[in-house]
Amino acid sequence: MLDWSDSTTAPSPAVMFNAEQPLEQTGLGAIDRSGGRVSVDEKRMINCRADVNQLLPLKYKWAWEKYLAGCNNHWMPTEVSMQADIALWKSRDGLTDDERRAIKRNLGFFAASESLVANNIVLAIYRHLTNPECRQYLLRQAFEEAVHTHTFQYIVESLGLDEGELFNMYREVPSITDKAAWALKHTQNLDNPDFSTGTQEADQSFLRDLVAFYVVFEGMWFYTGFAQILSLGRRNKMVGIAEQYQYILRDESIHLNFGIDVINQIKLENQHLWTKAFQEDVRGMIRDAAELEAAYGRDTMPRGFLGLNAALCEQYMHFIANRRCAQIGLTPVFPETENPFPWMSEAMDLKKEKNFFETRVIEYQNGGALSWE
Ligand SMILES: [Fe+2]
Ligand SMILES: [Fe+2]
Repeated sequence: MLDWSDSTTAPSPAVMFNAEQPLEQTGLGAIDRSGGRVSVDEKRMINCRADVNQLLPLKYKWAWEKYLAGCNNHWMPTEVSMQADIALWKSRDGLTDDERRAIKRNLGFFAASESLVANNIVLAIYRHLTNPECRQYLLRQAFEEAVHTHTFQYIVESLGLDEGELFNMYREVPSITDKAAWALKHTQNLDNPDFSTGTQEADQSFLRDLVAFYVVFEGMWFYTGFAQILSLGRRNKMVGIAEQYQYILRDESIHLNFGIDVINQIKLENQHLWTKAFQEDVRGMIRDAAELEAAYGRDTMPRGFLGLNAALCEQYMHFIANRRCAQIGLTPVFPETENPFPWMSEAMDLKKEKNFFETRVIEYQNGGALSWE
């Protein structure tokens, strides 16, 4: 179904690619009173002309399934007890200075990153992703990012941390600023009011933004962040935060997989975008992102502590970077690397891993997705 409701004839292809007439559908244009009903075959990830206000019929069942999985995983940070963390944080010798530095920088990185990711979804991705089932998932993801930001507010409040120090780290700590600035370059491009998809260059920019936020931010940088806190949790330190990070990790692994499915589906439908040069470009992004993360690791853990140090985090980032390359059909960017944190996969699978931190159970009825006891 074409929606040319404001004109009597369909514009020529030249007009279609005119920057003044955005190709993508926002869903807020004039209603096409005479148009036919949407058929599945007309649905497209980007540059779609079919009505984006009609969820059904579903085309991308993977997007709907992720929406349902996200709903089944509902949690709130305030349901996690912070008593043990408060006692440990206030104790004189329960944590080393190195551990405190890593915890604070880790919290500072996540606190602003959750907002950057949320803003990217709402202000850059949503508008250009012209499929209602994917948008349904984005709405769920946006809420989850709000829950994650809430988590950092709750941690700051519980531990009595300096909120200004934590929430400004993405501006004031160079190793964190460098990562945020790198990702922001890609979302700023889409945030430009003149930006619209529909050309090779614009569609590749959109893909780069998806890579920067889903593959790099949520799929690489968050993972060393999780490893830092979960390794403390394994040693019975900051178990409340560690439990919250497990819930965040569970959410983020769906965000990442959604992003990978979106990228692969766009590739499938627009094979002309995935040129050799573009693949090299994306591999370069992933390599640069791993280097930024290695610098962050050296800065947050200059001496390291039990079970964790900057060199292991760098190795983990190489392992993860290669895995992400494989997931979007790229050749690896680093030599084959062993996973230095095999326990991270246990932490990711909450259904199998009971009593990971021996914390209390929070069981929701919706789908029984959480089964710690
Ligand atoms: Fe998040
Ligand atoms: Fe996320």
